[in-house]
Amino acid sequence: MTNPNPLTMGQQFGRRSWAEPWKIKMVEPLRMISREARERALVEAGYNTFLLRSDDVYIDLLTDSGTSAMSDRQWAGMMLGDEAYAGSRNFYHLEEAVRRHYGFRHVLPTHQGRGAENLISKVAITPGQFVPGNMYFTTTRLHQELAGGQFVDVIVDEAHDPEVVHPFKGNVDITKLGTLIEQVGAGQIAYVSLAGTVNMAGGQPVSMANIRAIRELCDRHGIRIFLDATRLVENAFFIQEREPGFADRPIAEILLEFCSHADGAWMSAKKDNLVNIGGWLAVNDDDLFEELRNLVVVYEGLHTYGGLAGRDMEALAIGIEESVQDDHVRSRIGQVRYLGELLTDWGIPIVQPVGGHAIFLDARRFYPHIPQDEFPAQTLAAELYLDSGIRSMERGIASAGRDAKTGDHNRPRLELTRLTIPRRVYTQAHMDVVAESVKVVFDVRDSTRGLRMTYEPKYLRFFQARFERL
Ligand SMILES: Cc1ncc(COP(=O)(O)O)c(C=O)c1O
Repeated sequence: MTNPNPLTMGQQFGRRSWAEPWKIKMVEPLRMISREARERALVEAGYNTFLLRSDDVYIDLLTDSGTSAMSDRQWAGMMLGDEAYAGSRNFYHLEEAVRRHYGFRHVLPTHQGRGAENLISKVAITPGQFVPGNMYFTTTRLHQELAGGQFVDVIVDEAHDPEVVHPFKGNVDITKLGTLIEQVGAGQIAYVSLAGTVNMAGGQPVSMANIRAIRELCDRHGIRIFLDATRLVENAFFIQEREPGFADRPIAEILLEFCSHADGAWMSAKKDNLVNIGGWLAVNDDDLFEELRNLVVVYEGLHTYGGLAGRDMEALAIGIEESVQDDHVRSRIGQVRYLGELLTDWGIPIVQPVGGHAIFLDARRFYPHIPQDEFPAQTLAAELYLDSGIRSMERGIASAGRDAKTGDHNRPRLELTRLTIPRRVYTQAHMDVVAESVKVVFDVRDSTRGLRMTYEPKYLRFFQARFERL
């Protein structure tokens, strides 16, 4: 049967099509196991997608962390690993790449982002101090708490509402931050913890105007700003697209300007920086660096490898260079948006506007009949896997953990299931398969029941918790 009115996907959405700025040189076969096998796998995994074997997964949208495809240049770089214990040439290449694109003076490699979070939290937080930030991230907040700090969410209210459309839902509410400083005193603020884009809010960006305003306020009180730079390149894309005055400036330039307003940054290089493992920590202050450089030896490794092999640092240095190219970022976020456009057109509730790295399904509106204590977002992740072997992740009450003081569940307003898109890995056809599966699960939503938690680990429970059907 021929289509009387054939249109490309771009034309269907009323725009010129875009394409990835690469072609595929090597492929990894995928396999889909039967529905019965998926049911068995899910029960064995305690309805937690983190506990599935990847061999039982068809399209893996658990995370964009460490799941990117490396380029031929990065693989070639792996062969140039200098595996000297000290002073590896790959470290100096990495140091130069971080300095050039993020602008900080001192650089330490770490095995991944949380290694860097541990170091900065230990050095920059005095027990009893507060750490204001633009919405929590699981590992970041835990390290801040383990160092004796108390995280305070000062993100704009819009960030907690999945339906409100706002160009910079990751912004800090300057009034909230100012009020906190007045209430507790500047000396009681360890630093401002600023993430761009904000993962838990749906990959939402922070504007340049906002970081300038935070800088101004912090300068008046002598407070430092440290960035979670994990997805800061994607943040720069949104500034280029949405903020007046930035349309003609390259992403690399915007990134550098954004970082110039901060005192340092930690990085999970497994995201923006296009590697399968790695992280770094970078600061400007000499004394602070001195302390961090000493501590990295305790937790990660010598300050010129920090838990990474020389070849990993080489791939990372090259990945940084590739990650700040405009055509790369545009196609990466374009693919995420493509999936978002399909789901929005079909009336499926997702966080709006679509952010940088993932589509966040709004499980509250998806399953209005499932109370939050019965884990609607976890349920949705399980149902998607059952339908099509697609793996997603809960970002709701299970991820939010318990209140450190009362021991009760933290109950975030956002109860989301994240379809996270790895960089340079899947095609438009994969996105179509994902969209269709979400639609099938949506169509039978009324008959879906929630979950009960049967095992709860003490730290970061969402990784290893187990559930059963109610
Ligand atoms: C925003 C953000 N910060 C920090 C981290 C922690 O990084 P890693 O997983 O490399 O330890 C992650 C990823 O998990 C993240 O998404």
